[in-house]
Amino acid sequence: MAEKQAVVSALKAVLPELSEEEIANKVEAPKDSSMGDLAFPTFTLAKVLRKAPQMIAADVVEKIDQSGFEKVVATGPYVNFFLDKKQVTADTLKKVLKAGINYGENSDGEGQNIALDMSSPNIAKPMSMGHLRSTVIGNALANLSAKNGYKPVKINHLGDWGTQFGKLIYAYKTWGSEAEVKADPIATLLKYYVEFHEKAKENPALDDEGRAWFKKLEDGDPEAHKLWSWFREESLKEFTEIYDRLGITFDSFNGEAFYNDKMDRVVKALEDKKLLQESQGAQIVDLSPINENLTPAMIKRSDGATLYMTRDLAAAMYRKDTYNFAKSLYVVGGEQREHFQQLKAVLTLLDLPWADDVEHIPFGLITFNGKKMSTRKGDVVLLKDVLDDAHELALKQIEEKNPSLANKDQVAEEVGAGAVVFHDLMNDRTNNFDFNIAEVVRFEGDTGPYVQYTNARAQSILRKAGVAVDTDNITLDDAATWDIITSLNAFPDTVRRAFAHREPSVIAKYALGLARAFNKYYANSKILADDANKNGRLALVAAVSETLTVSLSILGVKAPKEM
Ligand code: ARG
Repeated sequence: MAEKQAVVSALKAVLPELSEEEIANKVEAPKDSSMGDLAFPTFTLAKVLRKAPQMIAADVVEKIDQSGFEKVVATGPYVNFFLDKKQVTADTLKKVLKAGINYGENSDGEGQNIALDMSSPNIAKPMSMGHLRSTVIGNALANLSAKNGYKPVKINHLGDWGTQFGKLIYAYKTWGSEAEVKADPIATLLKYYVEFHEKAKENPALDDEGRAWFKKLEDGDPEAHKLWSWFREESLKEFTEIYDRLGITFDSFNGEAFYNDKMDRVVKALEDKKLLQESQGAQIVDLSPINENLTPAMIKRSDGATLYMTRDLAAAMYRKDTYNFAKSLYVVGGEQREHFQQLKAVLTLLDLPWADDVEHIPFGLITFNGKKMSTRKGDVVLLKDVLDDAHELALKQIEEKNPSLANKDQVAEEVGAGAVVFHDLMNDRTNNFDFNIAEVVRFEGDTGPYVQYTNARAQSILRKAGVAVDTDNITLDDAATWDIITSLNAFPDTVRRAFAHREPSVIAKYALGLARAFNKYYANSKILADDANKNGRLALVAAVSETLTVSLSILGVKAPKEM
């Protein structure tokens, strides 16, 4: 907080015995705001300075530079700081408006790369709500890392390899039809996959057939490879439609298949360290030296085929070589917790100094009107349908509220998609939650459209005012704006905290709080009244709009100027 820094600096000048950090750790907000905006308790200094706390407080007040404060007073052992609210208000608004879209940025991560494994849906299956979570959380974390000065590398680790492709190839060759796949690729492939599992229940020999086809694929069989690459291409087309609608891009689509020829080094490194053991024909790594409760990591199956884990080990090494990441984040559902513990444990056993920079970012499960989803059973909620429904609901509300709006359809898309994304991000990352579209696309309450609507309202005031804000001469003397000013000032810290905790919900909650504070103010004041504070109020409105827009853009949500 900027005001806290001002207090710390002023104190440091008169207390050279203490470090800025020691001072900062003591400065607090008094319980009773009539005691000031910030307070510095002196009890613990009595020993260091060999003086009574009351004396220290009185001394500090006598020597301290009071400029920038309304007053600084000693109350018993406390030094109480009353901010010059008018000054802080003007400084804050000026700071926000000068920074514009860059407000809240810092350079903490300068020169460092953050690898983000995100989205990573499985080919030949529809993208699920779970993959939506990974996509939007990953995207928000990438944006947050950039705000904190890092360079994000967004990697879509497509699930484009594994036994399921053997199953799919077998199913397609045995009862599939080219025309059917061409007509509706993902739905058809999903149908084959579900049918395969039904048939395999009666005839377990099918599983061997599937495995055999996957082995062929791994060994480079041309027919298997051709079918696989066709399935992959068709799937990517559908995924891309969703990514485009969400406005999300990737730096790499290197999925599991990419690592097919990069796994030898993993096996070799494990052999060199004598970490590979045989167990029932398979090759495993015992992880008990790291954690007794971890199941061994399986590196090669008894038929020699490699596994999800092996590909992830190769991917981790490849990413370190290619991106030299400071952190490698994996935004993947909580059900894969053990997999990532194992991954990290193997990297640690390999003595790789960067093993500690590998971080699993788990998230909770979405249920759909109370129901879990399962691709194997074929009961999935298609993301495309969710986005279409959200669009329609948004359009309906826009038509009621603002029937003459020019580009309704585009705004409805921005509001609909924004609502889905915001809802996903506003919940604490690891919480499970239920998805109910009618609640998600409301214009009131804790929703994305509420924040967007608040911003559009601010924009409409600025349009009505018809004059540009004079950012160099801001004066605003209005106690009712203090909550907003405090909130605006808290934004840079919020950006730091959200990334430190890998928690986009911190930004979503912040945006809701700022929107609420602004709406309260809006309901109780005449913003456009012609008085001495008018330019100041307009500056406030513009600063709120700017900060809401930046918050939404971190979350990957658009901020239409009219809706
Ligand atoms: N494709 C996997 C799934 O849908 C997620 C992949 C996550 N990333 C990784 N490097 N393992 O479950």
